Amino acid sequence: MPQENPFQDPLRFERRVPECAVVIFGANGDLTKRKLMPALYRLAYDRRLSAGFAVVGISRSPMTDEQFREKMLESVKKFSEDTEIQDDVWRAFAGGLYYVAGDIADPALYQNLATKLKQVESERQTGGNVLFYLSTQPSQYAPAALGLGSAGLGKGAGWRRLVVEKPFGHDLESARELSDKLHEVFAEAEVYRIDHYLGKETVQNILAFRFGNGIFEPLWNRRYINHVQITAAESIGVEGRGAYYQEAGALADMIQNHLLQVMATIAMEPSSSFNANAVRDERSKLLRSIRLMKPDEIRQNAIPGQYGPARIGGKDLPGFRQEEGVDPQSQTDTYAAVTFYVENWRWARVPFYVRTGKHLPKRVTEITIQFNPAPLAIFDGECPDSSPDLLLVRIQPEEGISLKFLSKRPGSGMKLRPVSMDFNYGSSFGERSPSAYETLLLDAIVGDPTLYTRQDMVEASWRVVEPIQTVWRETKYDFPNYDAGTWGPAAADEMLARNGHAWRKP
Ligand code: BG6
Repeated sequence: MPQENPFQDPLRFERRVPECAVVIFGANGDLTKRKLMPALYRLAYDRRLSAGFAVVGISRSPMTDEQFREKMLESVKKFSEDTEIQDDVWRAFAGGLYYVAGDIADPALYQNLATKLKQVESERQTGGNVLFYLSTQPSQYAPAALGLGSAGLGKGAGWRRLVVEKPFGHDLESARELSDKLHEVFAEAEVYRIDHYLGKETVQNILAFRFGNGIFEPLWNRRYINHVQITAAESIGVEGRGAYYQEAGALADMIQNHLLQVMATIAMEPSSSFNANAVRDERSKLLRSIRLMKPDEIRQNAIPGQYGPARIGGKDLPGFRQEEGVDPQSQTDTYAAVTFYVENWRWARVPFYVRTGKHLPKRVTEITIQFNPAPLAIFDGECPDSSPDLLLVRIQPEEGISLKFLSKRPGSGMKLRPVSMDFNYGSSFGERSPSAYETLLLDAIVGDPTLYTRQDMVEASWRVVEPIQTVWRETKYDFPNYDAGTWGPAAADEMLARNGHAWRKP
C-alpha cells in the first residue's frame, strides 16, 4: 500500500463550484434546447452544481417561469441521450429556472432582468454571481452586452462573466469591433469565447498525451513527422440552417474556429504550467506562426467545394443550392480543404492538411499524424511508403488513439503487414465522457478559461482565414463540384497528390 503523503491536500485537484445564476439570452433557441439545458441538467444530475444555482432564460416569446420549466423539461427529455430524468433531481433543478421575456434592443428588458435577478438571488442564494450566456443571432451580441452595461448589470456584488457563442465576427475587423464593444462593459478576463471543440474529451486529451508523457515529445517535429491531416466530416447537410450557412460557409463555420484550435493544440509548444494563460499563450503563438498565404498560393492550397444533389440508399438528397433559404446560384463553400504551414523551427515545411464538409460519406472527426518512412527498405517486397506509421487521434464518434505500424506476419520469411495498437476511451475507463458543453459550462462557472479562446487567438485565426475568403469570393467556382455522399471535390485530392500524399480514408 502506498503511504499517504500527509503534506498533500487530497482536494487540491477538486475545484470549488461557486453559487451563481446563469442568464441565457436566446433561451428559446436551438442551442439552449439541444445543448445548454441538457448539459446543465446533467451537471445537476451528477451533483456538480452548487445548491445556490439558478438559470434565467431570456427570449422574445412571452412565457411564465412555469411554462419555461415545462418547455425545458421537454427539451431535456428529447436531447439528453444518456441521462435519465430523475423526478427529485429535475424538481430541484427546475425550481431554479426563471424566465424573462423581452427584446434585446429594448432597455426595459434589462430593468426586468435586474428585478428578476434580485428575486433569484434571494430565493436561490446565488451569491450575486452571474454568468451571462449569449446564444442569440451574432448581430445581437454587442447590443446585449451594451444593454447589460447601461442597466448596471455588468458589475455587482459577486463576479460577472460573459460567454459568447460562435461565430465571433465574420472577419478580422468585425471580430475586433465586437471585442471593443464587449470591452465597454466586460474586461477581457471576463469574456469567455466558446469553441465547443476545445471541450471535447479527446481534444483535451491531446494535451495529456503530449505533455503528460515523455515518449512522444522527441518525435513531435519535422524530423520525424511527415505531415498531419485533420478531418472533420459530417454526413448531415445544412439541416434547416441554410440561411445562416449561406453567409458563413465551411471555412468560417468550422476551420476558422474549431479546426484551427485543434491544429494549435496538436502543434503548440509545451507550456511551462497548466495555467490558463500559459496554455493559451502557446496556442495563440502557434496560430500567429501559421503562414499567411498570397493569392497564388491560396489557389493551390485552399480548395472550396459545394455539394450537388445525389441519390443515396434510394433517397434523393437535394444539392446545397436546392436547400431552403439558399440562393440557387450560391457560391458558398459547404466543403473546405486547406494546406497550412507553420513557420517555426519545429514545423517548417510540414504540411497540415485540414478539411471539413457537409454531406460527406460519414460523421467522423480525426487527426492523422504520419511519420517519415524508415530510411532504408531492407525487407523484400515491402514498401514502407505504402503503409506509413501513423498516429490516429479519433475525436468522434468513437474516442481514442491508435498507433499503426508494420509488423512481421507469422510464418517463414519476413513479410510485413500494418497492425494497430489501440486505446479506446470507452473500454479503458468504462465511464461516460461528459459532453463538451458540460465541461465548458462548468469551467466558466468555476472561472477557468483554459479551454476558451482569447481575443488574440480569435484574431490570429481570422488573419489566416481572411485572405482565403477574399480569394474565394473573387473567384467564380463551377459549383456544385461534389455529389452529396462523396468525399469532396477531386481538386482536394490533387492538392495532396502534388506533395506525394493522399487523404487517409477514415
Ligand atoms: C458547429 C457548426 O459549430 O459545429 C455546425 O456551426 C457543425 O455547422 C457543428 O455541424 C459540428 O459540431 P460537432 O460537435 O457535431 O462535431
